[in-house]
Amino acid sequence: MKFDIEKAAPREIYNLLIGLVAPRPIALVTSMNEAGLLNAAPFSAYNYLCTDPPIVGIGVTNRPDEAFVPKDTARNIRRTGEFVVNVVTEDLAQQMNICATDFPAEISEIEMAGLATTPSAVVKVPRIASAHAALECREHTTLEIGRSRIILGRVVSIYIEDQFIDPAGPYVRSEELHAIGRMNGLGNYVRTRDSFLTIPRVPYSEWKKRQQ
Ligand SMILES: Cc1cc2nc3c(=O)[nH]c(=O)nc-3n(C[C@H](O)[C@H](O)[C@H](O)COP(=O)(O)O)c2cc1C
Repeated sequence: MKFDIEKAAPREIYNLLIGLVAPRPIALVTSMNEAGLLNAAPFSAYNYLCTDPPIVGIGVTNRPDEAFVPKDTARNIRRTGEFVVNVVTEDLAQQMNICATDFPAEISEIEMAGLATTPSAVVKVPRIASAHAALECREHTTLEIGRSRIILGRVVSIYIEDQFIDPAGPYVRSEELHAIGRMNGLGNYVRTRDSFLTIPRVPYSEWKKRQQ
């Protein structure tokens, strides 16, 4: 099947893209408004984009039905300039999903999800206490593209529970962290346990030897 993007409805493009660019890591983003009201919401249009400087990117569409009203996360980050990416692992999956419910503004998703927060090391926005790892970020740039915003955040501090770090690298013990990924948007996620393929990179010197 071929899809002509010029003729396709936004929902169709969304369905296809999120099904094909998968699995995606999930950022459970905590942010605060000017009055200090805390917000949490998951985003899977998310990745690190470079490490020197350390930049992560998050794609946030505006609210559906209200053409140019940004989601609370995008608005908060634009106004207060800080946020925390809490890494979503299997044990946080249900609570992460509750944070995606479109509660009215006066209801706190964090409370509804039964999540507790704890102070961050550098930014004012707290992290989720039960998250095993978190990236504290300051807004670098927010690009407004059509009905969406792409938020670039500079990572200013990294938190990870000791048990998930191999200090030798340091490397993250990914096989123990049990992060989850989002698939096609039908409520489907992927576990990262028992699914590791280890494929070491081949340096050219090694490659040449193998050809002999
Ligand atoms: C796993 C998951 C991933 C999501 N990823 C995105 C995303 O990348 N971009 C987006 O705009 N909304 C995404 N959403 C929807 C937002 O989480 C949802 O609209 C949320 O209510 C926004 O909250 P806020 O207004 O407090 O920022 C996702 C939802 C789920 C469950």
